[in-house]
Amino acid sequence: MKKTIQKIGVLTSGGDAPGMNAAIRAVVRTAMFYKLEVVGIRRGYKGMLEKDFVPMQSQSVSKILALGGTILQTSRCPEFKELEFRRQALANLQEEGIDALVVIGGDGSFRGANDIWKDFGFPVVGIPATIDNDIFGTDFTIGFDTAINTAMEAIDKIRDTAHSHDMVFFVEVMGRDAGFIALNTGIATGAEVTLVPEIQNDMDSLCNYLQIGRRKNKTSGIIVVAEGGHLGSAAEVAAQVKERIPNYETRVTTLGHIQRGGSPSCNDRVLASIYGYEAVGALLDGRSGVMVGRVNAKTVFTPFDEAISKHNQIDRSWYEITKILSV
Ligand code: ADP
Ligand code: F6P
Repeated sequence: MKKTIQKIGVLTSGGDAPGMNAAIRAVVRTAMFYKLEVVGIRRGYKGMLEKDFVPMQSQSVSKILALGGTILQTSRCPEFKELEFRRQALANLQEEGIDALVVIGGDGSFRGANDIWKDFGFPVVGIPATIDNDIFGTDFTIGFDTAINTAMEAIDKIRDTAHSHDMVFFVEVMGRDAGFIALNTGIATGAEVTLVPEIQNDMDSLCNYLQIGRRKNKTSGIIVVAEGGHLGSAAEVAAQVKERIPNYETRVTTLGHIQRGGSPSCNDRVLASIYGYEAVGALLDGRSGVMVGRVNAKTVFTPFDEAISKHNQIDRSWYEITKILSV
């Protein structure tokens, strides 16, 4: 491994995701192993603009592996989309003696990272962290596994009440415009219907489908609704169903930010640790403008240009499988 870098900056940006701390820890500890210095940049690109820098050593990341959120905190920083502000950020990095960056975040954060790389040739490697799992160039993003387990446990509990009271629950899960969380939790909880943004549904077939279930003596049900779906939010879908089938007792639950919090699962801790280790190694190997990922159980590096212009796709056949398994 050739070593030209001496001081690495690390930041978390965009929406938080369980496992971000495990990634920070892995970056810091790997950097220490290679005798590099590490500076934590607090609150993402905002901290870069405001020189919110904190030196990090091995002990700085003690006992954070199991913590949700991010000890460096995160933010959304619209100014970073403007070159003038990025120039200021570069000057701040140089003043601090930072030679390279590890950016932990989603595709928005990688757009910023790509700009730093393209505008100034500043070495940057990205680590994909978002509960949405929508980033091209990796099978799994940090936080997704924890989020689906959180949602699954919540829906299992809702199922108890649905069954006890003969109710149909419409449960909204996150994912922005991607259906990974919905599809996985729909399968894992045996949802009667799962609505994902990638697949067009209409109200008639949804109601027909629910009625078929009724005729088969299903007296309760769970409809998992991904945010960003064609038929609207869980509340909107429930209202439309109620209009057409008034005798259904319906309830709506929006799981919301509970899906972003909590201690990371074993899979997320492992993934984050491997990504952190690989990201530092990649910088030392002279790689830049790339995101680390795992595809078919192998570590791969995808150029930011590709990672931000494409989307990870759900397996559409899983949608058909949910239907077969639920009736
Ligand atoms: P995520 O990384 O989770 O997708 P966002 O889309 O909110 O989250 O992006 C996080 C931050 O990345 C933004 O607040 C902004 O600072 C930066 N960013 C997003 N898009 C761009 C862009 N086109 N150019 C430069 N920076 C960007
Ligand atoms: O990208 C993660 C995510 O939680 C999405 O699933 C959701 O659409 C969005 O962030 C919510 O963002 P905010 O917390 O800013 O409302």
